[in-house]
Amino acid sequence: MKFGYFDDSNREYVITQPDTPLPWINYLGCQAYFGIISNTAGGYSFYRDARLRRLTRYRYNNVPMDFGGRYIYLRDDESKEFWSPSWQPTRHNLKDYTCRHGMGYTVIGSSYSGIEAHTRYFVPLDENLEIWQLTVTNKRAAKASISAFSSIEFCLWDAQDDATNFQRNFNTGQVEVEDGVIYHKTEYRERRNHFAYFACSEPSTGFDTQREAFLGPYRSWDNPATVEAGQLTNSIAHGWSPIGAHQVKLDLAPGETRQIVFVLGYHENPAAEKFDPPNSQTINKKLVKPTIAKYLDTKNADAAFEQLRQYWDSLLGIFQVSTPDIHTNRMVNIWNAYQCMATFNMSRSASLYESGIGRGLGFRDSNQDLLGFVHMAPARARERILDLAATQLPTGGTYHQYQPLTKRGNNDIGGGFNDDPHWLIIGVSAYLKETGDWSILDEPVQYDNEPGSEQPLYEHLQRSFNYTLERLGPHGLPLIGRADWNDCLNLNCFSDTPGQSFQTTTNKDGKVAESVFIAGLFVHAGRELAAIADHRGLGAEAASYLAETVKMESVILEHGWDGEWFLRAYNDFGAKIGSKECEEGKIFIESNGYCTLAGIGLKDGKAAKALAAVGEHLATQHGIVVQQPAYTRYYIEMGEISSYPPGYKENAGIFCHVNPWIMIGETRVGHGDLAHDYYSRINPSAREAISDLHRCEPYVYAQMIAGKDAPTFGEAKNSWLTGTAAWNYYAIVQWILGIRTSLGGLQIAPVIPKNWPGFTATRIYRGVVYKISIVRNGDGNSIALTVDGASIEGNIVSSPTDSRKEVAVKGILS
Ligand code: GLC
Ligand code: GLC
Repeated sequence: MKFGYFDDSNREYVITQPDTPLPWINYLGCQAYFGIISNTAGGYSFYRDARLRRLTRYRYNNVPMDFGGRYIYLRDDESKEFWSPSWQPTRHNLKDYTCRHGMGYTVIGSSYSGIEAHTRYFVPLDENLEIWQLTVTNKRAAKASISAFSSIEFCLWDAQDDATNFQRNFNTGQVEVEDGVIYHKTEYRERRNHFAYFACSEPSTGFDTQREAFLGPYRSWDNPATVEAGQLTNSIAHGWSPIGAHQVKLDLAPGETRQIVFVLGYHENPAAEKFDPPNSQTINKKLVKPTIAKYLDTKNADAAFEQLRQYWDSLLGIFQVSTPDIHTNRMVNIWNAYQCMATFNMSRSASLYESGIGRGLGFRDSNQDLLGFVHMAPARARERILDLAATQLPTGGTYHQYQPLTKRGNNDIGGGFNDDPHWLIIGVSAYLKETGDWSILDEPVQYDNEPGSEQPLYEHLQRSFNYTLERLGPHGLPLIGRADWNDCLNLNCFSDTPGQSFQTTTNKDGKVAESVFIAGLFVHAGRELAAIADHRGLGAEAASYLAETVKMESVILEHGWDGEWFLRAYNDFGAKIGSKECEEGKIFIESNGYCTLAGIGLKDGKAAKALAAVGEHLATQHGIVVQQPAYTRYYIEMGEISSYPPGYKENAGIFCHVNPWIMIGETRVGHGDLAHDYYSRINPSAREAISDLHRCEPYVYAQMIAGKDAPTFGEAKNSWLTGTAAWNYYAIVQWILGIRTSLGGLQIAPVIPKNWPGFTATRIYRGVVYKISIVRNGDGNSIALTVDGASIEGNIVSSPTDSRKEVAVKGILS
């Protein structure tokens, strides 16, 4: 069952039923001011940091769900009936409800009793504010007297404190109202020099800023006393809970349309110019007023919206493809790329599943996210790499996370996840392959943000590589440390204390438990590093890296092979994990995915064998599960993985993040059909028809789909902020379609389904437009390329040496 449809030409998903199985959200903002908005206008906004500069309040895990947001009420002043055109919070039986989630904007509208209304929400580029453009049309034969109300609930800035510290917070709220603009200035009198504002383009016939005055005692957003009565009370908040609400009266002739613009924004004043007059306690509004006036003008709001569209057109225009599969086209061209930008902007901070107060930026996660967005935002990728590398420790190890505001590593989730350092090599390599900007390797970068510790970025990569060499276990495999990619495989933790964090507790010396996954990652990263060294003219160094990867490969084939698949790890007792000898957890996806992705066992058939075992034991119609059989009890020597009920998360859930490793592995053994089949099983668009089962948004990936051991098999959770976005984008674009960046140029190596006659693509790469067309002329994956009509050797198209800015690449697959 579907709850809407894709409008690909407008790059929108159109939701036609408000009561979606879960709130289906979108993001507003792409630089510093952000918001999340659901299909019924729920959500909140913040400036830069979702915890520390939260503008509007949102109650997570609320009942009814997703209650609280950017609400508009319309009231028929004759019949006295009122409703919300976005369905929530009043939940009337609306006609023609639609929510259009587009690239950086959302439009929600409906009709009720002959009054049509829709609101377009977006954040203009380069501004710290959001615009709500409300359009109301009278479709009745008679004139209509309508009151329109807007409403938001301010957050007292620090979202964590806001949700807990009531003895203080009920006493700090302050506002000002001037010329109809509501200014939220809690704590402005002391150490803050920022405030929020909420403005309206029409003369208001009333406002409220105190929540209880607006709602009335024992009432909620679905029946505010003031809206019911048809008149706001001009309350001024002093303590308690500041809100913003405006009332506008509209007398509409039959067929008449009116537009009202609301602007909600954030502003910082220079410390010396906080007040006006200077020694008063009144906000200096001089600097912000021109901005407010500008966007309250519909013409300027429309122009800003047009700019936003152009911004997304040009970002998405960097790679566009046309294949025989609509789900591939739609995800690659629109939604998957868009989600990659969201994961870049948000990391794992603010979604409906990430509360915006918890996790910092993950070291591992941020490097992997780069794979999906580096072509759209290379300059920001560069900055991100340097920030990440500066938190690296002198040992080459890393903190697991860092805080974006301070750019410092934090110990909340600890460190010593022994896979972490290698992701830096992979991130930097992806950046070099995209941009050819070799200068980044010479950038001086601190260790642990210590002034004076600067070394070239290249040296950070060397230390990343050596980190593993200095931490090998009894079999010569890498020691796992606290965990590897699988945060929940905690082999040195042995926790028996309720509530203890699996990721920061260590009871063992860590000298025994080894990870076959890290071994595969080491081989992959080591080869990337060798190619980088080689390119820098460091031939001997490159050879020594390669020698280490060859050595590790043979250790994997000897001690990391279980007969039919790759083992997962050795535990603290030196016993196998992910082996046919195990009672549960006999086979895992990560080691089989990463080893085959890295091409380990290609020559002797082990890769193909491992992939076949994955197909047999782990693949389901909804995707590939993490391991089988699921753990049915808690194993103290395994940690968090066995804490989840079977079929969820790391305990045999379908972790969509790692499915692409198998897809890439399948391309490496030449199986285009199976690679694309696996891709399609978790492709959200391809799952749209089962939205009632899938439940999450059909336009973006979720971190997890419940595995076959769960009663909810096929149900997705934790949509939007997941490494799934980057990895699926990378797998389909670079390995299945095979349009791959390399140090030497654009490589064209498709491994596509046999029944595809071919495909075309446009790729803007290092300033040149590549118009690519691939034609199938046989069942295989060997390719013959011509560039502007001339055939070339091999499959790497090097950048034109003349002034050509557009190049035609034709490939014949046979
Ligand atoms: C989450 C984490 C990621 C980890 C994965 C598996 O997605 O963000 O870092 O690799 O879980 O545990
Ligand atoms: C929990 C989750 C895991 C995530 C980790 C991050 O362990 O199960 O998916 O990676 O938290 O802190």
